Amino acid sequence: MLDALHAIAQPAAIRRADYRPPAWAVPDIALDFDLDPAATIVTARLTVARNGVADEPLRLDGEALELLTVSVDGIAIDDWRMEGDQLVIDLPGDAHTIETKVRIAPDRNTQLMGLYASGGNLCTQCEAEGFRRITFFPDRPDVLSRYLVRLTADKARFPVLLANGDPIAAGDAGDGRHWAEWRDPFPKPSYLFALVAGDLAVNRGEFVTRSGRTVQLGIWVRQADIARTEHALHALKLSMAWDEQVYGREYDLNVFNIVAVDDFNFGAMENKGLNIFNSRYILADPDTATDYDYDAIAAVVAHEYFHNWSGNRITCRDWFQLSLKEGFTVYRDQGFSADQGSAAVKRIEDVRGLRAAQFPEDAGPLAHPVRPDSYIEISNFYTATIYNKGAELIRMMATILGPQAFRAATDLYFERFDGTAATCEDFVACMEEASGIDLGQFRRWYSQAGTSRVAASIAHDAGEGRATIRLAQHQPPTPGQPEKAAMVIPLKLRLFGAETGRALTDEQLFLLKDPAATIVVDDVTERPVLSINRGFSAPVVIDSDRSAADLAFLARHDDDPFARYEAMQQLMLDTLVAAAIEGRADHDAVVDAVADTLANPDLDPAFVAEAVLLPSEAFIGDQLAIVDPDAVFHAREALRRDLGKRLADQWRSAYAAAPDGPYAYTPAAKGHRRLRAVALGYIAASGAADAAGLAFSLFESADNMTDRQGALSALANGDAGEREAALDIFYNRYADNGLVLDKWFQTQALSSRDDTGDVVRQLAEHPDFTLANPNRARSLLGAFGANQRAFNAADGSGYRFLADQLIALDKLNPQTAAKLMPPLGRWRRFDPNRAALMRAELERIVATPGLSKDLFEQASKSLD
Ligand code: ARG
Ligand code: ZN
Repeated sequence: MLDALHAIAQPAAIRRADYRPPAWAVPDIALDFDLDPAATIVTARLTVARNGVADEPLRLDGEALELLTVSVDGIAIDDWRMEGDQLVIDLPGDAHTIETKVRIAPDRNTQLMGLYASGGNLCTQCEAEGFRRITFFPDRPDVLSRYLVRLTADKARFPVLLANGDPIAAGDAGDGRHWAEWRDPFPKPSYLFALVAGDLAVNRGEFVTRSGRTVQLGIWVRQADIARTEHALHALKLSMAWDEQVYGREYDLNVFNIVAVDDFNFGAMENKGLNIFNSRYILADPDTATDYDYDAIAAVVAHEYFHNWSGNRITCRDWFQLSLKEGFTVYRDQGFSADQGSAAVKRIEDVRGLRAAQFPEDAGPLAHPVRPDSYIEISNFYTATIYNKGAELIRMMATILGPQAFRAATDLYFERFDGTAATCEDFVACMEEASGIDLGQFRRWYSQAGTSRVAASIAHDAGEGRATIRLAQHQPPTPGQPEKAAMVIPLKLRLFGAETGRALTDEQLFLLKDPAATIVVDDVTERPVLSINRGFSAPVVIDSDRSAADLAFLARHDDDPFARYEAMQQLMLDTLVAAAIEGRADHDAVVDAVADTLANPDLDPAFVAEAVLLPSEAFIGDQLAIVDPDAVFHAREALRRDLGKRLADQWRSAYAAAPDGPYAYTPAAKGHRRLRAVALGYIAASGAADAAGLAFSLFESADNMTDRQGALSALANGDAGEREAALDIFYNRYADNGLVLDKWFQTQALSSRDDTGDVVRQLAEHPDFTLANPNRARSLLGAFGANQRAFNAADGSGYRFLADQLIALDKLNPQTAAKLMPPLGRWRRFDPNRAALMRAELERIVATPGLSKDLFEQASKSLD
């Protein structure tokens, strides 16, 4: 009996296989908002039309709504019923008009889903299922409607009233109130609905499309932030031009507005014609934003803009198809960013991100395919797998098709599915049809989870002049998928001669389709060194037996910048893994390779900075059967110190090489700053007596946040007197800038000092810390969870602290709590002591009364 009750209390899974088309279409909706933070009245008039012949009632989703009235064809009714969260109405005919009136309380909405208050303004977030917290509606992406929206609000408090589409009328409503009407001519699903009401300033711009239409652009922020909007506006114009040139996609409305808000659950949202952004992805000036922030702003502005076609004009049939829009749009924004600066460095950054976030996800309890088969809470599936592995799938198809056929295929996709809700299968079918290439086996990339591994080796028969490359693929088991079929893995390969350093072959694209394959290359007159997975052509792990000497050789001679970087990383990784496991510290090969890279005048400083950076503690840990966080940390620190000492002169000259002059956001200046920060890190790691003084003087003299934050991080890891001073100066200087205070919290939570766990627990009590703001919660808890050694303290204090915070946060904001949980789920990767401590915290979370679906799904799956 108890068991049965328990089973009933558990939220149910939704399955992809259960998809049914909607029983009713809603071609038109008219929404009327009487806005007030404490009590907003929403009146929704829906035209509904029976879809097919089924004799189904109308079912409208609703959550946390106070239902006031329902009418059908203008007549109030009371024979409606609630089934769970659905309002169910039996309708006699095939077409009706339904009107509902509800009351909601935006100022009590701490989940930040639906209509909520942020900084005194009102805004919305509807993806995935937030619209049902605004009004009753079939809240699913395959119901597309034309929206007419009327907003009425207090004129002094909410002078600006924005919604999707084009503004059509506005006026005075008397009593100090005013109204505005907006119409969006493009049918859209409810998750793309948005409104904003507030006291906002605007930075306006214009874009003339290739067919000569002028689009009015606006970036809306609080008055005090208006000077920080120029970069975002510029990025928007670049994005609009890029999508015309590269994908032939033109913007379709007369206005495009972006609003920045401080309280936001994720990065940004592509609502039709009215993007709403986390302010961290809009606001920038040299004094407060790093180069990394500038890059991220341009990438996210581009991402949301590109969704206008890959997401809005063509949306998803159901949420299992989420990667249809997200994977493709990430691929598109990566291409945009690559075109703005160094494509090689962008690829390196993207692969580093994939390895930091997606590989661990794919190897852990929350692993899921790019097109999942089931979920409890869809918000939990906005993951690195859906987004970043999804983008890698598109990239592999683009590689296999080649640029012309890929463009023909995207043209076909945009034309054929415009105005519809499509599937991943529709996209792949367009790739096949436009190219004539069979992608039957490729489809497994959508259904099989886990990171594929490829074992690669090369043998040379000097007498015959023949090289033999042997490849074998392995698909590791993942939850619910113990066995898997072979994938098609596109591998770019090239051979280099170990003696002469010259290329022995052209680059070849090899499609590994079978479990194992052999490639024979003739006329190989010297010992060949294998360059494989060039450009990271497939999102796989390569297990090769290449020696330290061969890796160092590739780091020097490979003509593919990614492969060069990769050889260096592999060399470092091999060295660090050996050191962590056996305590053996033979640093010579790494020191030589780093010295060589630093000395090479032909290399771009931005590339050098990436290439000489050691793999993260987490990534080293990922290579071990059982992660020993302390051994990993000490092995890495020892190598850092050794590199710092043995190459002291080179770090000093790299540090000094950056040209002086005022801050400029150009690829060259960015590269110099990046290398300067990396060099400073090594100088500090060397233990040089003047390191803290050097960092502090950069901290004080810098005219930009990139240098200042780089210096602060270097100081935050040490224990010089300058450390406290710099943290205090930084705090006081930016006390009124939330985004910069986030950096202050984050830098301390990422510190490699022994006392970081204690410091983080104290910071959670700091007056500026709050769980109510997702950026602030992430700046401390997210950074701490990513700090492998501090979080995994052997006494379990890190686990207990995070679990306490998650349980508290879940009551306010389940989505953000669930997003911060995964570090606790990695218990299988640790020793039995730590594993038991982590499991105990997961069990405590699952047993918490009133737990959200979001956190329940993440924590319970992590216990399995
Ligand atoms: N579609 C948005 C974007 O990628 C993100 C929405 C995230 N929604 C969520 N429930 N996590 O640009
Ligand atoms: Zn997106």
